[in-house]
Amino acid sequence: MNDNVIALDGPAGSGKSTVARELATKLGYEYLDSGAFYRALTFYIFRKYEKENPSEHFQNWLEKNDPESLYSGAVVVCEFSKLGENRILLNGEDVSAAIRTPEITREIKHIASKGPYRDYVNVQLRNLALTHKLVMDGRDIGTAVFPDARYKFYLTASSRVRAERRHSQLKDQGIDSDLEEIEREIISRDRSDTEREIAPLKQAKDAILIDTDNLPKNSVIGKILECLDTAL
Ligand code: C5P
Repeated sequence: MNDNVIALDGPAGSGKSTVARELATKLGYEYLDSGAFYRALTFYIFRKYEKENPSEHFQNWLEKNDPESLYSGAVVVCEFSKLGENRILLNGEDVSAAIRTPEITREIKHIASKGPYRDYVNVQLRNLALTHKLVMDGRDIGTAVFPDARYKFYLTASSRVRAERRHSQLKDQGIDSDLEEIEREIISRDRSDTEREIAPLKQAKDAILIDTDNLPKNSVIGKILECLDTAL
């Protein structure tokens, strides 16, 4: 049993990252956003693609190249901070914000669906868990990366509620957005994450399910802490 990792999986916008960050701070663990590794890798490879400037779509170009030749040279480092923020460095460059553009979010599925890229990310995640106590959020943490984690949680919410949360986060940042469009994007991401053949998004058999539709963040954290308490 692995006691170094608390696994928090679920679809986009289910509240995982906020909950994981606060939980980590409360427990004295580090928060680790596994999605940031997929984002940094996509960013690195997409830059190569843009530099080469081929006439075909990213997906077709990827199929023609050997994955190892595309990711070799990418050194992704996650720096932890006391506030639970992750600073993501790609070959020394801070890409924490650059990896979150709609373009990277759209293209990530072509990387996240392929075994060699997933293996590459998993090595980094498993290495970090050798030296740190982590609350790690993602899609396959409890099923594929750390199937031996003692504590696993799976957070869900309806696509509407998830879209509304994202919509109001953007509003808080002064950004206008279209709720319907956000919901469509969330549904499409759910589809590619749950339908891929390798490490699809699903609840691990031994994960505790928490529906966050009508549950405020503090209640979700409270529920998780209760489970950890009774399990200890
Ligand atoms: O968590 P975030 O939304 O930033 O993740 C971006 C994408 O990275 C997900 O939609 C998914 O395709 C991929 N991902 C994954 N496995 C993880 C974490 C993220 O496939 N453990």
